[in-house]
Amino acid sequence: MAPFAPRMTTWAVAFLHLLFTHQTGGAEDGQGQDVILGELGTNALLPCRDLPANVTPSVTRWLKDGSVAVTRNYSSSPRSPDLSHFYVHDNGSLSILRLQTIDEATYSCECATQEHGVHAGADLRLLVVSGPTDVIMEIRPTSKHENGTLFVHNGSVVVFRCLSQSYPSLNLTWTLDGDTPNKTPVSTNGSLIQFELNVEPSFQGNHSCTAENPLSKRRVSRSMELLVYYAPERHPECSWSAANDSSFVLFTCSWYGAYPSPVLEWLDDKSAVGGSRSAIERAEGESLEVMLNRSRLTDHQTVLCKASHVALNEGEEKFCSFELKSPYPEGEPMVTALEGSTVTLTCTEGSSIPLAKTTWTRTVKQEDITPSGKYVMSDEGPVFRLTIVNVTKQDEGIYFCRSENPLGVREMEVYLTVKDSASNTGGIVGTFIAVLILGAGFAIGIAIYSNRDRICFDPRFSLMSEERSDVLSLVDSDEEIFSERVPRLPAMTNGHSTTLVEIHRIPSSDHEDQLNKGESQEHEQEHHDVILEAE
Ligand SMILES: *[C@@H]1O[C@H](CO)[C@@H](O)[C@H](O)[C@H]1NC(C)=O
Ligand SMILES: *[C@@H]1O[C@H](CO)[C@@H](O)[C@H](O)[C@H]1NC(C)=O
Ligand SMILES: *[C@@H]1O[C@H](CO)[C@@H](O)[C@H](O)[C@H]1NC(C)=O
Ligand SMILES: *[C@@H]1O[C@H](CO)[C@@H](O)[C@H](O)[C@H]1NC(C)=O
Ligand SMILES: *[C@@H]1O[C@H](CO)[C@@H](O)[C@H](O)[C@H]1NC(C)=O
Ligand SMILES: *[C@@H]1O[C@H](CO)[C@@H](O)[C@H](O)[C@H]1NC(C)=O
Ligand SMILES: *[C@@H]1O[C@H](CO)[C@@H](O)[C@H](O)[C@H]1NC(C)=O
Ligand SMILES: *[C@@H]1O[C@H](CO)[C@@H](O)[C@H](O)[C@H]1NC(C)=O
Ligand SMILES: *[C@@H]1O[C@H](CO)[C@@H](O)[C@H](O)[C@H]1NC(C)=O
Ligand SMILES: *[C@@H]1O[C@H](CO)[C@@H](O)[C@H](O)[C@H]1NC(C)=O
Repeated sequence: MAPFAPRMTTWAVAFLHLLFTHQTGGAEDGQGQDVILGELGTNALLPCRDLPANVTPSVTRWLKDGSVAVTRNYSSSPRSPDLSHFYVHDNGSLSILRLQTIDEATYSCECATQEHGVHAGADLRLLVVSGPTDVIMEIRPTSKHENGTLFVHNGSVVVFRCLSQSYPSLNLTWTLDGDTPNKTPVSTNGSLIQFELNVEPSFQGNHSCTAENPLSKRRVSRSMELLVYYAPERHPECSWSAANDSSFVLFTCSWYGAYPSPVLEWLDDKSAVGGSRSAIERAEGESLEVMLNRSRLTDHQTVLCKASHVALNEGEEKFCSFELKSPYPEGEPMVTALEGSTVTLTCTEGSSIPLAKTTWTRTVKQEDITPSGKYVMSDEGPVFRLTIVNVTKQDEGIYFCRSENPLGVREMEVYLTVKDSASNTGGIVGTFIAVLILGAGFAIGIAIYSNRDRICFDPRFSLMSEERSDVLSLVDSDEEIFSERVPRLPAMTNGHSTTLVEIHRIPSSDHEDQLNKGESQEHEQEHHDVILEAE
């Protein structure tokens, strides 16, 4: 026996042995057996229990589930341990090499000794365990960044899956580190864990799957980073403001609430007029400002801000735009007021994009009118009003409703005529006389008509017809339109220095002047509607 000893020692060193041994509760297997766990594919060592330490058996027999598995007669030479599945050591212990699941059984030893006869060791329960192996973790369908990080769009349905192999059973646990309210790990003891979820931003995080062999307590974990991308439903917001330098306009586009940061781009969109879109500026971020020289802006030009984001669906466009429009103030070109009364001039600026700054100015010098006891200004949406309190003769003249946006300036001229009480009386008298004459004309006409058979030409009749034509000239007015260059109006900053002014000349009716001689000078005034046009 002595010659074998060194060889056996060497072999024993290479031995992979028990993971652990523990005393199980009697209830579990009902026989108070010792349980030994052996990892699949490794070697297990089963001691022959209760054999007195210094006793050397002559023959050892190991029984597997009651039948003899291996016998060693110490008198005969042992087989090489490398070649056998079962090997009995000198001290009676049994080695099982490269464990297989079929090795799982209850083992017991029997040793025959010369001094003490036959010794039977206590039963040992060998459990073969394996794994967890091949832990596979998947999150699908997702897209992958170059660095391997997965990303998915908010709201998509994603299958989370983890599988592994383990013997005899497997406990799989899926954990998410993140702000998930539903953070409780999902756990099963099958070989697969799979669930489907409607992804929300809270699912962003490092997901991990832990596979545990409940018997050996061995664990294997995998983890994956998942990013959840989202973009707001709404479109970006386009706004503008005047830049410090008055020749520039600052356009701002903002689109908050997207993750990761979107790419915003300002474009000059000529697609409506058969052109194409050309980029002005493009940058990553939730807000993009661009300063445009006014000279690049034209009437009816469209500037557009487009948002690009990974979470937008194919063909889905998020944008905002301005169709730039020059200001166009409109209103009554002529207003007449009685001296001492209160008069309101009205101007409507409804077309300007971006919104124009609309002000009231006066006279040729175009002084701004500032609110005071005399002037009350108000604006209600697009309607701008100038109220002049206690109108006097000095208030008569031209008022401008001046509207300015980055594209240019347009003005509407309002001519205020102030009549004193006397002229007003004259007007009333004139109108009264006119109505009287008209009435008389009708009465006479009817009388003549009803007596037409009796009528002969009478000098009174020709007089009457003259009066009638006079009355008709009351409503008869002709209109002349002509154009002239008016250098007084400021040239626009965009280099379109030419300004065209249309003047609608509407001569005042002259019947009053005929009836109220002496006032005719004042009523000869021409009323202008001046509109500044950009060319
Ligand atoms: C053990 O081997 C010896 C010699 O080979 C033999 O005499 C003996 O009978 C064997 N014992 C048993 C129990 O088989
Ligand atoms: C029996 O011998 C083997 C190999 O030499 C050794 O690994 C094991 O610990 C021994 N067992 C006992 C109970 O002494
Ligand atoms: C991988 O790339 C994405 C996008 O570039 C980035 O958001 C993420 O943080 C990266 N992850 C790692 C682990 O570097
Ligand atoms: C994610 O999508 C859901 C609906 O699919 C929506 O209600 C929610 O507002 C979105 N979250 C974000 C941050 O966009
Ligand atoms: C599985 O593992 C989890 C976490 O480690 C534990 O909470 C759970 O009780 C285990 N389940 C089983 C059946 O062992
Ligand atoms: C999970 O574990 C429980 C208790 O340990 C057991 O009854 C059940 O059969 C196991 N299920 C699977 C699929 O292994
Ligand atoms: C996931 O873990 C990595 C490494 O610890 C960390 O850099 C990353 O920020 C985590 N990702 C998330 C979404 O929490
Ligand atoms: C624009 O005006 C702001 C505040 O009035 C000032 O802080 C800024 O420096 C000015 N920018 C330029 C370019 O003049
Ligand atoms: C704005 O554009 C005009 C015409 O192209 C140019 O003359 C002017 O210098 C520009 N202004 C600035 C501040 O660049
Ligand atoms: C209106 O103006 C005139 C002339 O300035 C002045 O005499 C008069 O008191 C004013 N009336 C009112 C009601 O303010």
